[in-house]
Amino acid sequence: MNIMDAIAERHSVRSFKDDRIPHEVWDALDRKIDAVNRESGLSFRLVCDDPAAFDSRLAKYGRFENVRNFIVCAGPKLPDLEERVGYWGEGLVLEAQILGLNTCWVGLTFSRSAAKRLLKGDERLVCVIAIGYGATQGASHPVKSVDELSHVVGEAPTWFKRGMWAAQLAPTALNQQRFLIAYEDGIVRATSKGGPFSDLDLGIVKRHFEIGAGKENVAWA
Ligand SMILES: Cc1cc2nc3c(=O)[nH]c(=O)nc-3n(C[C@H](O)[C@H](O)[C@H](O)COP(=O)(O)O)c2cc1C
Repeated sequence: MNIMDAIAERHSVRSFKDDRIPHEVWDALDRKIDAVNRESGLSFRLVCDDPAAFDSRLAKYGRFENVRNFIVCAGPKLPDLEERVGYWGEGLVLEAQILGLNTCWVGLTFSRSAAKRLLKGDERLVCVIAIGYGATQGASHPVKSVDELSHVVGEAPTWFKRGMWAAQLAPTALNQQRFLIAYEDGIVRATSKGGPFSDLDLGIVKRHFEIGAGKENVAWA
């Protein structure tokens, strides 16, 4: 599976099998996380066999089942921490999909206090990503049209269309897709229309767009 397949096949999964993640898969993901932490300055941490963060009433309300592994998503107190976590974390979500795993971003329906115990120093917790072998591969949901999600002045190049395809499939909190990607004279501007977790969503969407369009083509405003 390549990264475009991962974008097409990824769906949020909230119910996981008992199967343990084999060491080689775990190590591969851990190495990716280390590389992302070094490059981004953020603190993603893989937590294995610890159901505490999904043992709360809130997690059960969110219909999570058998979540034993998750990625803690944290970082220094920066004004754009959420957007950065979204951008870098979605790279990890897609890597996990390529490795045959399933994931779900979780901003609300988990035990924040249990996850906070895993932080170091003055790191700020943003959210977690549930991870493991899904009971199913999840399901696709209706998405907004490219016309609703973008605004183009003049003629958009092919790479912009590819970027929009990938952005359309990006996970957003409550599937709200409250973003707009505009194109004019070779410059791309992504803006959020607000709503819960909208900064996190924007980072995720920008990552998808860059992958679809080709990073070398994208000059963000
Ligand atoms: C930033 C963010 C926060 C999310 N928080 C939760 C959550 O607290 N509980 C939950 O069940 N799903 C959560 N989700 C999953 C979304 O509901 C899901 O991504 C969306 O419905 C789109 O479905 P898909 O990921 O299958 O494309 C979150 C997703 C994102 C991107």
